[in-house]
Amino acid sequence: MENFNFYSPTYFAFGKDRERDCGDLVKKFGGNRVLIHYGGGSAIRSGLIDRVKDSLNKAGIAFIELGGVMPNPRSGLVYEGIDLCRKEKVDFVLAVGGGSVIDSAKAIAAGSIYEGDFWDFYQGKFIEKALPIGTILTIAAAGSEGSGDSVITNENGMIKRGATGDGIRPKFSILNPELTASLPAYQTACGITDIIAHLYERYLTNSKDVEVTDRLIESLILTMKIEGKKVMEDLKNYQARANIMWAGMVAHNNIVGVGRSQDWASHDIEHELSALYDCAHGAGLAVTMPAVFTYNCSHDIMRFAQIAVRVWGCQMDFANPEKTAREGIEALRSFLISIGMPGNFEELGAKEEDIEKLAHTCCHGNGNKSGKIGGFVSLEQKDVEAIYRLML
Ligand code: NZQ
Ligand code: ZN
Repeated sequence: MENFNFYSPTYFAFGKDRERDCGDLVKKFGGNRVLIHYGGGSAIRSGLIDRVKDSLNKAGIAFIELGGVMPNPRSGLVYEGIDLCRKEKVDFVLAVGGGSVIDSAKAIAAGSIYEGDFWDFYQGKFIEKALPIGTILTIAAAGSEGSGDSVITNENGMIKRGATGDGIRPKFSILNPELTASLPAYQTACGITDIIAHLYERYLTNSKDVEVTDRLIESLILTMKIEGKKVMEDLKNYQARANIMWAGMVAHNNIVGVGRSQDWASHDIEHELSALYDCAHGAGLAVTMPAVFTYNCSHDIMRFAQIAVRVWGCQMDFANPEKTAREGIEALRSFLISIGMPGNFEELGAKEEDIEKLAHTCCHGNGNKSGKIGGFVSLEQKDVEAIYRLML
């Protein structure tokens, strides 16, 4: 295990009706003038925004609103939010929605108190400071409710990039699994896939003797496999939704990623797909992960064989461990297809003729000076092109 720091100061309020506590929580963390930030309407239709306003009113907290965040959130609304926060002297940003809303809120919170262009953060500048952020999560997926990350698409070139920093870790996050019961099956499955991807990105490591985090990750993927199946059979299953919601947080606040190198090749390769074709991030990952793992399998056959046995129930073939390793990758692929995820480029709306461009942007776009991606296997443009071809 390698040396590490772990800092995850978010306060979590979990369970039924907890959104009614948001006024008190904003107050606890010093907010007086709040920007309520939300998406395309699901939080209004469900009555959640009204409950949030009610709670803020009861706590005597002033607020303004900015809705309209799109999935794969865009820079245009971030600039609008920054102007609004400055003009209205907002001192707290409250995100009500999924990863897209939370990421947009994080960008606004960081950009509002930064003199330069907020996009600097998405080109590698660490986010030290931001307005305090609270979240009320409505979809278990991205893990942004507990992470110090934000992913935004710049409309100038449709480039999707991430920023990071302790400044944008939410002060509090409210996780009420009931709020996720209105999610359609497809969106639910996209969330399950994203959570599994966050776990694999950390599992695929070159660090030795990381048994505790290996075992935690395996138990979380196993949980997603079992609870994911339950929720796809009954979208209103509260207990399954609750387990998935907490797993989504644990998968991405990095408690299972400490002391080890991580991969993130699948995410980098997927981000090009959701940027260009505006597909759901989880759907893109469902197609990307099996291709990346198939390509990288020979780099560490025993690691892929280990997860195949411990999570996917494959029998270890000691004479031919590569067979076991590849069976595990196929079991993952079958599971993702069984919950309704796409299985190839065409089902995603992606085009073969774009492969060279996708791979080029992935490896060389927007400030990537090394021309390489991946912490598990170092991948150059030709490798990434080959991976996209495995998705055809
Ligand atoms: O906009 P509304 O109307 O709210 O509809 C949303 C949206 O269309 C809908 N939805 C959310 N909660 C709902 C609901 N519909 C009915 N009932 C509910 N309770 O779901 C759709 C997708 O929402 P979105 O926020 O885009 O989903 P998700 O949470 O999967 O976020 C995806 C974004 O997060 C980024 C992804 O790249 C993508 O842009 N990621 C962020 C990360 C982070 N900050 O740490 C890490 C991830 O790897 C990921 O890259
Ligand atoms: Zn993700």
